[in-house]
Amino acid sequence: MRKKVIAGNWKMNMLPNEAISMITELAPLVKDTNSEVILCVPYTDLFYALLTAQETNIKIGAQNMHWEEKGAYTGEVSGQMLKSIGVEYVIIGHSERRQYFAETDETVNKKIKAAFANGLKPIVCVGETLEQKEAGITEQIITNQTKLALEGLTNEQVKNTIIAYEPIWAIGTGKTATSEDANNSIKAIRNKILEIYGNEVAEDVIIQYGGSVKSSNAKELFGASDIDGGLVGGASLKAEEFSKIVNYDK
Ligand code: 13P
Repeated sequence: MRKKVIAGNWKMNMLPNEAISMITELAPLVKDTNSEVILCVPYTDLFYALLTAQETNIKIGAQNMHWEEKGAYTGEVSGQMLKSIGVEYVIIGHSERRQYFAETDETVNKKIKAAFANGLKPIVCVGETLEQKEAGITEQIITNQTKLALEGLTNEQVKNTIIAYEPIWAIGTGKTATSEDANNSIKAIRNKILEIYGNEVAEDVIIQYGGSVKSSNAKELFGASDIDGGLVGGASLKAEEFSKIVNYDK
């Protein structure tokens, strides 16, 4: 039985004092959950978030990293740097990074490998655009992104990768995929993993849904057979709302 993993992606929001307040408020609200709770915060909040989340069941992640360990890459942060302060997770290949910062399937793959080399767990995002959805090629797009992202990883690494299926047209728009559509897309991703890595890996790998998840739709989405939790943007910025998503099953 796969555990649900519910992660917040704060994107470029929250100053350190806001991060500390939010996590302090969230911790008692989610302490009894059966799900894994992660907050992926801006680099400038990481240290404060880690300190505030100590002794709680909230895990902290970053939203990006570079694939090299160090060097002349002005403005970049490496996996080794994240690991050195106690970060456990890192989002890789979010559609906003693919769209605005020229990330490709190739750089996504390099970053995932570097994350594992540094003992970080990657949360890898895949998802189709509205045009691709309307052209009826969603499955082809997301299974291909998944295949390229995971290329060259061991079975053990794929098992420890979290995949977030985030249809781009659903991000920040208030338009959520129906639980049936999201579940079917996630099944297609799981089938692709089965084809390449076998049944055991496919059964274990966590595949989340992301895109306008909120407390009012979390139960319906996370109740679907193949949706193993969510990657939550806007609704993860407020402790009470995010706690309701985490406690969707209560
Ligand atoms: P929203 O929940 O704000 O739609 O964002 C989803 C997302 O991009 C999470 O990574």
